[in-house]
Amino acid sequence: MTGHYTGLINRYRARLPVSEATPVITLNEGDTPLVEFFNLPKLLRKKVRILGKFEGLNPTGSFKDRGMTMAVSKAVESGSQAIICASTGNTSASAAAYAARAGIRCFVLIPEGKIALGKLSQAMMHGSVVIQIRGNFDDGMRLVQELAETMPLDIVNSINPFRLQGQKTIAFEVLQALGDAPDYHALPVGNAGNISAHWIGYSEAVGKRCGSCNQCENDCPHLRDKLATRRPIMIGYQASGAAPFMRGHMVDEPETVATAIRIGHPVSWDMAWAAKNESGGWFDERTDEEILHAQKLLAESEGIFCEPASAASIAGVCKDLERGLIGDGSTIVCTLTGHGLKDPDTAIEQSTKPVVVDAKRGAIESVIAQHLPQ
Ligand code: F0G
Repeated sequence: MTGHYTGLINRYRARLPVSEATPVITLNEGDTPLVEFFNLPKLLRKKVRILGKFEGLNPTGSFKDRGMTMAVSKAVESGSQAIICASTGNTSASAAAYAARAGIRCFVLIPEGKIALGKLSQAMMHGSVVIQIRGNFDDGMRLVQELAETMPLDIVNSINPFRLQGQKTIAFEVLQALGDAPDYHALPVGNAGNISAHWIGYSEAVGKRCGSCNQCENDCPHLRDKLATRRPIMIGYQASGAAPFMRGHMVDEPETVATAIRIGHPVSWDMAWAAKNESGGWFDERTDEEILHAQKLLAESEGIFCEPASAASIAGVCKDLERGLIGDGSTIVCTLTGHGLKDPDTAIEQSTKPVVVDAKRGAIESVIAQHLPQ
């Protein structure tokens, strides 16, 4: 790569359904760090490599930007003036930012009182029309689909196939960083678009399947330029209160502290099952307590602050290592889907409160003395 990085559409143009005519609406998303954890394996006493793909470092602080650059670019290409989404927060933040960038209108439907503060502030700050509904994400998703039938609105939720096309690029980045696929790739599952997108990316990278263009019969660049020799085992973790994939059916009243994945009727149901089955992977669930513990553990042991939903992958992998489901010698990539700063309330609630002292040297000295390493 030469020159400065200008976002994932330009980087992966040959692997995406774009043409010269597509206006590239970008905030230079993607190219996120794949950070190896050195302390976590020691704490777990396991001889494994665990790496976090820190998607919280995307421009609006979550992986949604990968899908949104594609969805908004294609919407603008088709002449759309307005986009709409239902969201647990991150999609709305991303849609609002990319709509601002494109100069089009953005409408977001969010569950009243159930989205993290940072995400709400983003949607408001970027000038989208924020509609809080007395209902959950699943209600919003249904309403968005009804509205788009009759109103001039492009849906930018992951039922928009361009979203998954953008999000599949995470797999390419992991493969290029590691040289080949990790043994396992773990991530949180809510509406299930992201696990589906990961699998599309990994599959295309080994030439297994190609949803990106119509040249595959002849001279498809996806099949020609393989990025990997194999695909990882996919593991999808859900919050126990919102775990339709574990129950085997839709859940009507999802509830979890990880509000990003407070979803009971995932739209990409079939594709997510295919990702799990084709990869030989599994779904599992973690309690809110386990999720928050993992979020804190990662923040304190590795210096990485991810949001609660993202920590479901860490909670998931820690327990599956302890149980021996993931063996010694494995390389595991965890997608850390969003930044911890998105949800300051939850972070502050579970942390030691700051001490308050007089602005005097002695008072501060005694606090420091209590905490200095012995
Ligand atoms: N992690 C975070 C931080 C999320 O925001 C989401 C989804 C997921 C994981 C789950 O990804 O839905 O593709 O399975 N957030 C959506 C939103 C639903 O509206 O922001 P998924």
